[in-house]
Amino acid sequence: MLEGMSDFFENRIDGYDEHMMRDIEFADEFYPYTASCLPSASGCRVLDLGCGTGIELEFYFELNPTAKLVGIDLCEAMLSRLAEKLHNRDIELILGSYFDLPFGDGIYDAAVSIESLHHFTKEEKTALYKKLHSALKDNGYFILTDYFAFSDEEEMFHRQSLAALKKEQGITDNGFYHYDTPLTVAHETEALLDAGFTSVEVLKSWGATYTLKAIKGKNANKT
Ligand SMILES: C[S@@+](CC[C@H](N)C(=O)[O-])C[C@H]1O[C@@H](n2cnc3c(N)ncnc32)[C@H](O)[C@@H]1O
Repeated sequence: MLEGMSDFFENRIDGYDEHMMRDIEFADEFYPYTASCLPSASGCRVLDLGCGTGIELEFYFELNPTAKLVGIDLCEAMLSRLAEKLHNRDIELILGSYFDLPFGDGIYDAAVSIESLHHFTKEEKTALYKKLHSALKDNGYFILTDYFAFSDEEEMFHRQSLAALKKEQGITDNGFYHYDTPLTVAHETEALLDAGFTSVEVLKSWGATYTLKAIKGKNANKT
């Protein structure tokens, strides 16, 4: 049975961190690696899309304890767990969907998202990435670590499977359901470029999990 996105994570909050670190392949590598890609400057401002319980932020605050974070998530239970763990850090938590919330203009040095965006279509992501692009400062950047489809056929297969399940279960609304529909890296890159990012590069990969860096601005430096 398909579960609503927030209910899915709320029902799995106990043991969530342990599950991610133990059962998700290469989690012990991609969380610290992603954190290491975020800015090291004192007091820099970073936005986390789908921060969940903040696993990536625990790694990041170890590297940069002065960072100022804004974390968005639509599951209250995940945010409560994060607030317990990171109560002594500079972090603002916002409950809601990153598709609906305003992000502001030119205020973030960087943004990050891990394992949250593999549920959405290219069109949905392009609109989201336009908003994210506006929210970044010039030469700001977005680090995306997520898992991807290996081929167009695999991408299509997941999308068709979700449509079939929704039909079977009589779901006609456009709400968010927890069902993985990853894009290919090529389609993700197109969505980021269409949204206005100047360059997109693959920094690292582990099996189907990739870390992408999308840079805003004319002076986009390669790492
Ligand atoms: C697999 S968890 C990843 C959480 C965290 N980034 C991590 O790696 O542990 C996915 C998170 O994305 C959140 N999420 C999914 N869709 C969202 C949306 N539209 N807006 C805000 N958060 C969303 C879920 O509530 C969940 O906490």
